[in-house]
Amino acid sequence: MIRLQKYLAMCSVASRRASEKIISEGRVTVNGEVVRLMGVQIDEENDVVAVDGEVIRPDSKLIYIMLNKPVGFVTTVSDEKGRPTVMDLVSDISQRVYPVGRLDYDTEGLLLLTNDGDLTYKITHPKNDVSKTYVAEVTGNISMDTIVQLRRGVVIDGYKTSPAEVEVIGATQFGTKLEITIHEGRNRQVRKMFEALGCIVKKLKRVKEAGLTLGHLPVGKWRRLSESEVNMLKKIGTNKKSSKDYRNQKNRSFNSKRNNNGKSMRNS
Ligand code: URA
Repeated sequence: MIRLQKYLAMCSVASRRASEKIISEGRVTVNGEVVRLMGVQIDEENDVVAVDGEVIRPDSKLIYIMLNKPVGFVTTVSDEKGRPTVMDLVSDISQRVYPVGRLDYDTEGLLLLTNDGDLTYKITHPKNDVSKTYVAEVTGNISMDTIVQLRRGVVIDGYKTSPAEVEVIGATQFGTKLEITIHEGRNRQVRKMFEALGCIVKKLKRVKEAGLTLGHLPVGKWRRLSESEVNMLKKIGTNKKSSKDYRNQKNRSFNSKRNNNGKSMRNS
């Protein structure tokens, strides 16, 4: 618990003295209620403080970590079904961090967590084509035709996935072990790509993301990223098309899809 004016100062709103004035002017709310009294204590972990309607948070040191997520943990900050979350595995970090993107409950492997919102945006925005590599153990023997289809793109949820890199790397008791690299992050994408071609993914592990490698990090453990790893991540999107180009390109492909649909409907 800390005093409200101290919290405002920690959030770089103003000095403590100037913060007292801001409070007395009725510009500060705690959990939606205007607070004018001096000396009110707040719970900085749970209370929502806003100044002039804008929620404020303390300036914190940026932190970047890699977790080897086990199967059986949800990639979320809290789960309404009460299942274990990835946050349980990083509870020894004093700062609050958030997962960058997600891994399914039944997928293990490399998951980044940070409190750097800008970097999260860069890594997760589709315009940046950030690559993610998975080792998938799937049922059956995979034909060359299936591999070629995965490489070219597969229709899932009404969209064709962008080209993937796919290599067979071994055999397992269920069938085949493959390495697949994708550049998108649709919901359960890898599982759905294989399902679309008649194969069930029995085990899925992310081993690389955005140039970072999981390496020998034990399952359930985390480590801080090195300075050079963070610098590499920060270069994402610096030499790319702008978001505007990305939106135009998306609109063009959406319109052409719509036109094609229109055409085929008229022809049928
Ligand atoms: N693709 C999936 O199917 N699941 C994941 O967790 C990540 C990618």
